[in-house]
Amino acid sequence: MNVYDSARMADVLAALGYVSVDAPEDADMVILNTCHIREKAAEKVYSELGRLRALKEARAKRGKRMVLAVAGCVAQAQGDEIIRRAPFVDMVFGPQVYHRLGEMAARISRAAGSEIDTEFPAEPKFDHLPEIKASGPSAFITVQEGCDRFCTFCVVPYTRGAEYSRPAVDVLAEAAGLARHGVLEITFLGQNVNAYRGEAEMGESWGLARLISEAAKISGIERIRYTTSYPAEMDDDLIAAHGRVEKLMPFLHLPVQSGSAKILKAMNRRHDADDYRRLVEKLRRARPDIALSSDFIVGFPGETDDDFKATLKLVEETGFAHSYSFKYSPRPGTPAAVLDGQVEDALKSERLFELQALLDRQRLAFNLSCQGRVMAVLFERRGRRPGQLVGRSPYMQPVHASLTDDFLGTITEMRITDGFANSLQGASPENAPETERLTA
Ligand code: 5AD
Ligand code: SF4
Repeated sequence: MNVYDSARMADVLAALGYVSVDAPEDADMVILNTCHIREKAAEKVYSELGRLRALKEARAKRGKRMVLAVAGCVAQAQGDEIIRRAPFVDMVFGPQVYHRLGEMAARISRAAGSEIDTEFPAEPKFDHLPEIKASGPSAFITVQEGCDRFCTFCVVPYTRGAEYSRPAVDVLAEAAGLARHGVLEITFLGQNVNAYRGEAEMGESWGLARLISEAAKISGIERIRYTTSYPAEMDDDLIAAHGRVEKLMPFLHLPVQSGSAKILKAMNRRHDADDYRRLVEKLRRARPDIALSSDFIVGFPGETDDDFKATLKLVEETGFAHSYSFKYSPRPGTPAAVLDGQVEDALKSERLFELQALLDRQRLAFNLSCQGRVMAVLFERRGRRPGQLVGRSPYMQPVHASLTDDFLGTITEMRITDGFANSLQGASPENAPETERLTA
């Protein structure tokens, strides 16, 4: 979502005549788009600001100004606290108001002092943003924002606000526009994307399954993904869509967080580990080749060795193609931050290490299982080596292949010749016939 937001901020500024530069010291404006999800991410903002302060001062000596802005969820959560800690910052604004960037910048250029905007405006920003531009064959479309779930560890409901779904017609128009500019793959984004309930024609309201089905009718769009989903919001329609809509890719990020029913309850997740197991089973019944990824938190308050073992067990039973895992980080203002039973850091590290070793083994096993298969790869960019392109498999794995630039922005069938920890190697099926693979 932050990648998407940064691109949209660049679009807003481009409409005002700004162009992007390669180095911050050459910039009239620098925006740090920030994340508040864990303490480490939030603290990074201040070290980065210290570095930018020196560049800003050096620029001032050359008689040039650098407007320094902090955007995103740290801005939303901390507001004027940022100006207090870093008085050289000119603008602080949350994720819901960046369409006002132009006005803020204009005011800043006229007057001294700083601008702070952490409002949740009644009118969504999407109605005020310039038309989204394609930059490559794959694009994000925000369809939903905010979250009403209030998991006890999470800041998102406070920083991104209440759930809001964009009208379906707007989303589909954006997807069609992107398709006209050569986009082949769209990823619907939302903090709680499968809670999508968008206004549609004739007073109807559509869920995500319907939105996906309609988007699949757009000619040019070949691949559809969505992220991030909340397990308890995976309804039967959406599960069925995985079996029915061919363009919906067989890869789903479905965070479970923990395998312990007790911890999941304390997290205020509305599912337990068995609900998750049943859900995975249903998804695999609908789409047998679906691959899953998840987020995990270790060391949530009250997590015992047995609770942690339950997480390992769930991972072992489920088999994940990819995952993100984190040490629990107490966030100011969230209920879990003041719970008894906070786990000491050394134990969190130990558990994280063990969990990540298991998840890494699973990822490698999944990548190895792809060897010999022919997969459609969407080639997005050049690789580091000359004559190499990098694309994505249906399961989101990076695929490297020796191909000419003619293949950039195409979906091409490749035979997977090797599977590694983080990527795959592919070759044209003619160059890597199946018999060769079997003897290789
Ligand atoms: N501590 C650690 N991880 C967290 N996440 C969210 N809040 C916290 C926290 N306080 C993780 C969750 C979520 C992902 C985006 O970040 O696993 O799914
Ligand atoms: Fe945070 Fe996701 Fe829970 Fe919402 S559902 S509160 S975004 S972890």
